Amino acid sequence: MQERIQIIQGDITRQNVDAIVNAANCSLLGGGGVDGAIHRAAGPELLAECRTLHGCETGKAKITKGYRLPAKYVIHTPGPIWQGGRYGERELLASCYRSCLELASANGCKTVDFPSISTGVYHFPLKCASQIAIRTIAGYLAGHPEIERVRMVCFDADTESFYRRALEELEAGV
Ligand code: APR
Repeated sequence: MQERIQIIQGDITRQNVDAIVNAANCSLLGGGGVDGAIHRAAGPELLAECRTLHGCETGKAKITKGYRLPAKYVIHTPGPIWQGGRYGERELLASCYRSCLELASANGCKTVDFPSISTGVYHFPLKCASQIAIRTIAGYLAGHPEIERVRMVCFDADTESFYRRALEELEAGV
């Protein structure tokens, strides 16, 4: 399992994979953070296609082409905004990862890169988010050999350390 889940530090807009995931908002009309970076790199056709999707619910996902990105597809998912943890945020974050992987499978994507969903502007605590992400991805991959590799593409070393630790804990059966 280890080799099918990898943690790297980098810029997700530069990754040459079948699909990259966008930590979007429910409008799907762009924003800051990784959403802004992906739209800038993909070019205006991405927003034009997003306009045809009429938004997306938190925890769900929608797929578009990648346009000027090296990635073939962009899978957009609005993560939950952290509100203290009593509003189903954990389940919604897990649903983001699962929904994206289901769309990846349905579209023949074998390599999928994720950013750290909800841990920026949406303030989801990193330790908890990284554990949810890694466990949800591992759970999905166990039943879906069609997906060859999933990477967490972390923008900074601090984020990367949390995802590495979550993966180590998974391997150690913690
Ligand atoms: N590549 C990889 N990761 C990135 C990049 C990039 N180019 N740019 C930012 N990130 C990281 C951030 O450092 C953070 O760790 O993505 C993670 C998610 O942070 P945000 O982009 O703020 O996303 P999120 O917390 O899910 O908030 C979503 O922010 O940009 C708006 O439109 C977006 O309203 C939505 C909200």
